[in-house]
Amino acid sequence: MPTVFITGANRGIGLEFAKIYAENNWKVIACCRAPLEATDLSQLASKFDKKIIIFKMDICEQADINKFCDEYQNETIDLLINNAGAQFENYGSAAYENMGEDPNPANYDYDMWAETMNVNLFAPTKLTGHLVPMLQRSKNAKVVMMSSGIASLGNTWQAGRYAYKTSKAALNMSVRCVGEWLQAQNISIFAVSPGWTRTDMGGPNAPHDSRTATEGLYRVISKAEFKDTGSFYNFDGAKIPW
Ligand SMILES: NC(=O)c1ccc[n+]([C@@H]2O[C@H](COP(=O)([O-])OP(=O)(O)OC[C@H]3O[C@@H](n4cnc5c(N)ncnc54)[C@H](OP(=O)(O)O)[C@@H]3O)[C@@H](O)[C@H]2O)c1
Repeated sequence: MPTVFITGANRGIGLEFAKIYAENNWKVIACCRAPLEATDLSQLASKFDKKIIIFKMDICEQADINKFCDEYQNETIDLLINNAGAQFENYGSAAYENMGEDPNPANYDYDMWAETMNVNLFAPTKLTGHLVPMLQRSKNAKVVMMSSGIASLGNTWQAGRYAYKTSKAALNMSVRCVGEWLQAQNISIFAVSPGWTRTDMGGPNAPHDSRTATEGLYRVISKAEFKDTGSFYNFDGAKIPW
């Protein structure tokens, strides 16, 4: 039974990823910041007898990463889904819809921007490095970075939400440069976008739900081959321009 490691598995797209991989007979290491509060994930785990292991992990906390690496040093990870991400810009709010965010970068909240970089870029990149010994035990190890369509430089020409967009665009570059190093160790890496999805982050007006996003991404990830390493895919399988 292959093993998938998922961050931010307590809600939204991460929770749906845990479900779809358990349904398809994977062992799921489902990480979340607060397991005691993760009632949906706990209920899911109880439905899939021992297939889903819940592990406490704040991806920005080195102690949590170290604890996992100590406890699971002999584990094989076939697929790492760096799903956890944050958008602190209140997307989905009425204020955002009315372009309430001041697009003048002189007035931007740079502490918030730095924290967004920490969660969306530094943490998943660093976590990937720490899990390499476990990924190397797999014959077909894949790393997935949850990017976003609005991280595409080619497709985006729109003011506002600077922190989120630049953090995911930088994550894409992390795929391209860490990817070359991973490739040398037989590990492939992909950036993927779930499309605009109805979750706490995506808000209620998004066109599809997290099941649609994860079913699409499940197919995309399953089909992605080592020769495609470093690619950026939409949930419908189309390649997204960088
Ligand atoms: N929804 C969309 O339209 C959309 C579009 C493009 C890309 N994405 C990307 O898809 C991924 C999942 O998004 P979503 O819509 O499911 O978002 P969501 O509903 O807001 O869920 C975000 C998840 O990330 C976790 N998280 C945030 N900071 C974390 C940290 N420091 N350590 C560990 N976990 C942390 C959250 O945990 P807590 O519950 O503890 O906060 C939660 O489980 C994200 O990377 C997002 O950027 C989403």
